[in-house]
Amino acid sequence: MLVLKTIAETRSACARFRAAGKTLGLVPTMGSLHEGHLSLVRAAQASCDAVAVSIFVNPTQFGPHEDFAAYPRSLEEDRRILDAAGVDLVFAPSSEEMYPEGAGTFVEVAGLSDRLDGASRPGHFRGVATVVAKLFHIFSPERAFFGQKDAAQVAVLRKMVRDLQFPVQMEVCPTVREPDGLALSSRNRNLSGEERRQALVLSRTLLGVQRQVQGGERESGKLLATAMQILEEEPAVKVDYCRVVDPATLEDVRDLGHGALVAVAAYLGATRLIDNLLV
Ligand code: PAJ
Repeated sequence: MLVLKTIAETRSACARFRAAGKTLGLVPTMGSLHEGHLSLVRAAQASCDAVAVSIFVNPTQFGPHEDFAAYPRSLEEDRRILDAAGVDLVFAPSSEEMYPEGAGTFVEVAGLSDRLDGASRPGHFRGVATVVAKLFHIFSPERAFFGQKDAAQVAVLRKMVRDLQFPVQMEVCPTVREPDGLALSSRNRNLSGEERRQALVLSRTLLGVQRQVQGGERESGKLLATAMQILEEEPAVKVDYCRVVDPATLEDVRDLGHGALVAVAAYLGATRLIDNLLV
């Protein structure tokens, strides 16, 4: 497995894959890898000849009072996991490599960037779109793999790909969960035992909504009332948002129509977790 830190070396390695007639799949990550990330790696391996994983805790997607410093980092362990998984290339650049002194150009996906997480985390999606656009330029992958767990990120990046005409196929993989329902997240490592237990209210809420949908309910207002009732079972969990939205525009919808996204974000102490359900 190649482990590279510079853009120049990475571009050369990708050119060699292409010269050998290999299709390239890219899995962008911030490291602290878990089974959710590995499910993307496996999906990439199933449809691409070569698979690259980027590991970069991207400073521009964190607000000034967010957890950039506290974000879990485990590069050595991540390398071992990816090597064992049979990944071809790992790109783990420094901040200076990705953002040279004076870099001031950003990608803003107008409209979508300030909805859901973008509303609570101003500038977050500008940072995400900018770094993913840079990664697409560096790798020129045929396919790029993302998790449904970050549904708003998927909507923002799909629109960026369309608007900027990146020749890349976006592949979105289902959310991987712990056996008890908690969606895997690198931030779960920062939860205390008690917070880990309280965090289950997120998946329990989505399950409650799913049951109500299966029972025939289509009205967002009714589904949200159920969701809030379940969320209130854990008063220590501070709900950031809970909404029923169109999965592409992230705008609130009054009923399920042809499909909607039920998305929730909440704080467990200092840790912010998100989860969602496509209905
Ligand atoms: P990160 O949180 O490390 O996630 C990397 C990828 O793994 C994302 O596409 C995310 O949706 C996916 N993922 C995370 N948890 C998952 C789970 N439980 N099941 C399935 N997929 C899961 O998302 C980012 O990094 C960054 O914003 C990034 C896109 C790398 C840009 O910096």
